[in-house]
Amino acid sequence: MSIDSEEDLIGLQRIGRIIALALREMTAKIQPGMTTAELDQIGAGVLLQYGARPAPQLVYKFPGVCCISLNDEAAHGIPGERVICAGDLVNIDVSAELDGYFADTGATVPVPPVAPLQRKLCRCTRQALENAIAEARAGRRINQIGRSVELQAQRCGFTVIQDLTGHGVGRNIHEKPREILNYFEPRDQRRLTAGLVITIEPFLSTRANRVVTAPDGWTLKTPDGSLTAQYEHTVVITRGQPIIITAA
Ligand code: CO
Ligand code: CO
Repeated sequence: MSIDSEEDLIGLQRIGRIIALALREMTAKIQPGMTTAELDQIGAGVLLQYGARPAPQLVYKFPGVCCISLNDEAAHGIPGERVICAGDLVNIDVSAELDGYFADTGATVPVPPVAPLQRKLCRCTRQALENAIAEARAGRRINQIGRSVELQAQRCGFTVIQDLTGHGVGRNIHEKPREILNYFEPRDQRRLTAGLVITIEPFLSTRANRVVTAPDGWTLKTPDGSLTAQYEHTVVITRGQPIIITAA
């Protein structure tokens, strides 16, 4: 969506804060020995408390509240009986709706003690998100986001998962502009406009540049078992720095 009233901004900020809070609570409470279903319940509790409805369930009939993906799983992992271990990378992706507004956020949380490679992947991917946010402003091409992410991945010696992308958001979980790529596509002529609501969500990997669907039909994982990380914010494009809707 593109914001055209104060009311839109307030509605988006409301749901943005709720999912940011859910993500923060889940991050704070991750413990080795906990199952991903137990972690999901913490997020579910926060959403319920504010009357927000989980978007994956609402829109795609996803069998969980949040997407929880471990290590070589990049996205759409189903919460269940899997036990979280020390050294795991736990990606939590929370998206939800309130009063007709949708927002989407995510982060990869290393469960200590974590190996240096895992730590570096998280640090580098978080920086990719920050860099891309700093590049995103009205009048610029959408492909500057991908260019920024790709550059950061190269700088760190990591790869971009090319088939996972940012997207428009606001009135639905996925809307136009679709496929905000995490690599530079010179043929992409689209431009960012003031008020546009999008997610920026770099997915980096230690080796892989694509994902495959696991036998459960949902989980997207690297074909070679290499690790992934993702960080995501919903932002509103302006002529200056974007407004981060999902800041905690
Ligand atoms: Co997300
Ligand atoms: Co998203």
